[in-house]
Amino acid sequence: MALYLTKREERILDGEQGEAMQKCYRLLVRLGEAFGAERLIPISSAHLSGVSYQSIGEPGLQFLEDLSSEAKFRVKTTLNPCGMDVRRWRKLGIDERFARKQLRVLRALRKMGAATSLTCTPYYLREPRRQEHLSWAESSAVCYANSVLGARTNREGALSALAAAIAGVTPNFGLHKDEGRRAGVVVKVTAELNSISDYSALGYKAGKEVGGEIPFFKGLRAGRDELKALGAALAASGSAPMFHVEALTPEARNQEIKDLEKIEVDSREIRNVYESLGGGGEPEAVFLGCPHLSREEARNLSTRKPRMETFLCVARNLVPAHILRLARKSKFILLHDTCLVVSPLSQKYKKLGVDSAKAAYYLGERAVLKRREDLV
Ligand code: F3S
Repeated sequence: MALYLTKREERILDGEQGEAMQKCYRLLVRLGEAFGAERLIPISSAHLSGVSYQSIGEPGLQFLEDLSSEAKFRVKTTLNPCGMDVRRWRKLGIDERFARKQLRVLRALRKMGAATSLTCTPYYLREPRRQEHLSWAESSAVCYANSVLGARTNREGALSALAAAIAGVTPNFGLHKDEGRRAGVVVKVTAELNSISDYSALGYKAGKEVGGEIPFFKGLRAGRDELKALGAALAASGSAPMFHVEALTPEARNQEIKDLEKIEVDSREIRNVYESLGGGGEPEAVFLGCPHLSREEARNLSTRKPRMETFLCVARNLVPAHILRLARKSKFILLHDTCLVVSPLSQKYKKLGVDSAKAAYYLGERAVLKRREDLV
C-alpha cells in the first residue's frame, strides 16, 4: 500500500518549507514506505539519542551545527544524557577539549528548541498519556513508555527521531498500531526476585531468549522502578520495544496468549546472569542510575552509606534539593546530564560495580553486576 500524503505534505516534500524540512519528510516517508505505513501521524514529543560527543564525534557535531542554522523542533523535544555533567564537568575532571565539543553539540540542539534536561528518563519530566504518539529513541525509554504508560512509539534511531522532532510527524506503523503491540511469547517467572537488580537480570535473560518478540510475563510482581529496570535490560540484550505483565501493565488484558510459545526463567538462570556479567570481580567505584534514578530511588539511596566512590545518575531538577543535599552529605557523587556508559569518567576505573544489567552489558569487562543492596 502506498503512503498517502496530504496536499500540504506533498508541498513540504517539494521543498516549500525549506531544505531541512524537505529532507526530514523524505526520510520519514521512505521509512514509512519500507514498513508499510499508510500515512504520517502527528506526535506529541520526540526524544533524541546520539547526544554524546564521544558517540557522534566531529562529523555528528558538524551535522548538528549545520542543521541548527536552518531547522527548529516542532514538538517538545528531550535529550538523552551525554558524557558529562554540563555544569560540574571541571570539578569532575573532564578533559576541557572534550567538554568544549560536548557543549557545542548541546548548543546546536538547544538552538533548535531541545529541553535543557538531559536524561534517559524523559517520562519523569512529563509523563505521556496512554495512546499518545511519540517518536523516541533510547530503547529503555521506549520500553517504559510503551509498556508501563501505554503510550505509543517505535524504537527510533537517532536520525529518525531527529527528523520527527523537526517534522512533528512519524509514519504510522509498528508500535503505533494495535497489531504491532501484541505479545509473541510468554515468559513464566518462577525466580525469586528480591532486588531491583534481580529484575534487571530477568530482563537481560528474557531479552536474550525472545530477541525482538514482545514478551508477556506471568508470575511477576513489580513496581514501576522494577519495571523500568526490567525493560531497560530486555531492550539491551534483545530488541523488544515493549513487554506486557499479567494483571499489571495497561494492555496486558487485551493479549491472546493461549497459543504462544512459553519459556520459564527460574532463580538459577538469574544467578547465571550475575555470573556472566562480571562474575565475582571487586569494583573500584559504583555507578547507579542506568536508567536514571526515579525520585523514590534517589530518596531511598540518599540515607544509605556508600562504601566507595559511588555515582548516582539522575535527571536535573527531578529530585527535591533536600534529598540531593542528604545524598551529598552521605558522600554520594551526584551526576546530572550524564550516562556513565558514554562518559570519559568511567574510563578512570578498571572495574565499576553496577546494579543494571544494561550498564554491565555495555561496559563489558569494566563492569560487574551486583545487587544494589550489596553495592551501597
Ligand atoms: Fe541511560 Fe546510559 Fe543506561 S542512557 S539507560 S544510563 S546506558
